Amino acid sequence: MSMWNRKNSVAIQSYSAKAGKPEADENKRYIRKQNSYRSISRSSSIDSSASYSDSYSSDEDDVSPRERSQKNSSGGSDFCVKNIKLADFGRREIEIAEQEMPGLMLLRKRNCTDKPLEGAKIVGCTHVTAQAAVLIETLTALGAQVRWCACNIYSTQNEVAAALAEAGYPIFAWKGESEEDFWWCIEQCITADKWQPNMVLDDGGDATHLLYKKFNGTFNTLRGVVEESVTGVHRLYQLSKQGKLTVAAMNVNDSVTKTKFDNMYCCRESILDSLKRTTDVMFGGKQVLVCGYGEVGKGCCSALKGLGAVVYVAEIDPICGLQACMDGFRVVKIDMVVKNIDILITCTGNKHVVTRDHLDRMKNGCIVCNMGHSNTEIDVASLRTSDLTWEKVRTQVDHIIWPDGKRIVLLAEGRLVNLSCSSVPSFVVSITSTTQAIALIELFKAPPGRYKHDVYLLPKKMDEYVAMLHLPTFDGHLTELTEEQAKYLGVNKNGPFKPNYYRY
Ligand SMILES: NC(=O)c1ccc[n+]([C@@H]2O[C@H](COP(=O)([O-])OP(=O)(O)OC[C@H]3O[C@@H](n4cnc5c(N)ncnc54)[C@H](O)[C@@H]3O)[C@@H](O)[C@H]2O)c1
Repeated sequence: MSMWNRKNSVAIQSYSAKAGKPEADENKRYIRKQNSYRSISRSSSIDSSASYSDSYSSDEDDVSPRERSQKNSSGGSDFCVKNIKLADFGRREIEIAEQEMPGLMLLRKRNCTDKPLEGAKIVGCTHVTAQAAVLIETLTALGAQVRWCACNIYSTQNEVAAALAEAGYPIFAWKGESEEDFWWCIEQCITADKWQPNMVLDDGGDATHLLYKKFNGTFNTLRGVVEESVTGVHRLYQLSKQGKLTVAAMNVNDSVTKTKFDNMYCCRESILDSLKRTTDVMFGGKQVLVCGYGEVGKGCCSALKGLGAVVYVAEIDPICGLQACMDGFRVVKIDMVVKNIDILITCTGNKHVVTRDHLDRMKNGCIVCNMGHSNTEIDVASLRTSDLTWEKVRTQVDHIIWPDGKRIVLLAEGRLVNLSCSSVPSFVVSITSTTQAIALIELFKAPPGRYKHDVYLLPKKMDEYVAMLHLPTFDGHLTELTEEQAKYLGVNKNGPFKPNYYRY
């Protein structure tokens, strides 16, 4: 074992964490800006996945959280959530999540005495769900102070945000934030009395971006940034390339414990859930086009194939295209099938993969949604023209009606459909959250010089540790290498078991 690995493996023994599970909720009335497009029945919402929190709807809920003065039962008001009265329900959601996040809970248990994050002041910008709450409470149990906001304007579970606020966490998030609210919430996490953040846990790069652009002094003093998304990581590498990255950053997105579990297994389950909840669609025999055959695309395709859908794949990369072919999918250009498909799903991380021209040519009733990171993959803006009518039929479900009566079913306005319209399996979030927690500890505890102003991947030994924390759930028992076998393979008996270039 190299010196470097030995150090890491020792450090890792003392980590502990916990995790949580989210349950998607739907806003009964989310606020949409009045645009030039026509909206026939915005209020006729049939909420297919109404959560318990909907029963709390009242006139109060129509007031922006920023205009309401709320206090938790301890008199604290350093938070901004939809409705603090939802806290009890949110707490129960968090407790359910804890059950399904065994690895993170084990990390918490093992390290809550050592407190490896003592002194860490973390700005968190992630989806605010029950699983995230388990992460937040784990980081706190490990000694960190946090201020937290949402990385997506639709994905916050209001009751969970309320439970966190009730527990005294400075949390600034609610479902249905406007773009302006979104940036305001992030700013509340960066700036506060007697608060100088030294770490960032980001999903999408927006908190990092705001710190870099508007609070550069603080940005330059950060001990580290941990980033989860493709987009956020891409921005970090760009900064690094330009010589403008002044902190060490950990790319959690490309940790094998994220790409192989969160992107693939999570999306494999949640794509079906999202489509079912929003449209009640039956999959057998339906023609589905999946754009992008990366980890997310592979998960979606495998789930749809399992239910008997006829799946087409659009790809730009010959390797992924060949993989799709070998997995039994037809690789096509969008133009070749766009007129016939029943469902289109984007998962490319790219922009304008689906254009107005494609949408014009789709058949009546085609369902269009995005599993990629943001709302850029489908050119939704091109649908906001005076010739088209928008009819809101359910929460997160819009019918876009062409002059000849043709309707396209657009989900979540082109934003991440699974996070907006379904639940995400807590177990995979546990794996990602444990990876994030360990990345934060690694950056925070690293001796000076281990990490320079660059973007790093988590050492493989730590990825293996994350997986190890989750194996007991399945009563999984690993085989131990003999000395002879370890020597034969040229690896340490205790790992890492694979070279860094190994792809799993
Ligand atoms: N919905 C979720 O829960 C969830 C989870 C993880 C990641 N994501 C997001 O999903 C997106 C994809 O993630 P991934 O891990 O699969 O990435 P990936 O890089 O493995 O896969 C993306 C694929 O899209 C292909 N692609 C790019 N442009 C294309 C185009 N114009 N047409 C067809 N194919 C194109 C690429 O060649 C690549 O194979 C990212 O934006 C990521 O942030 C979403």
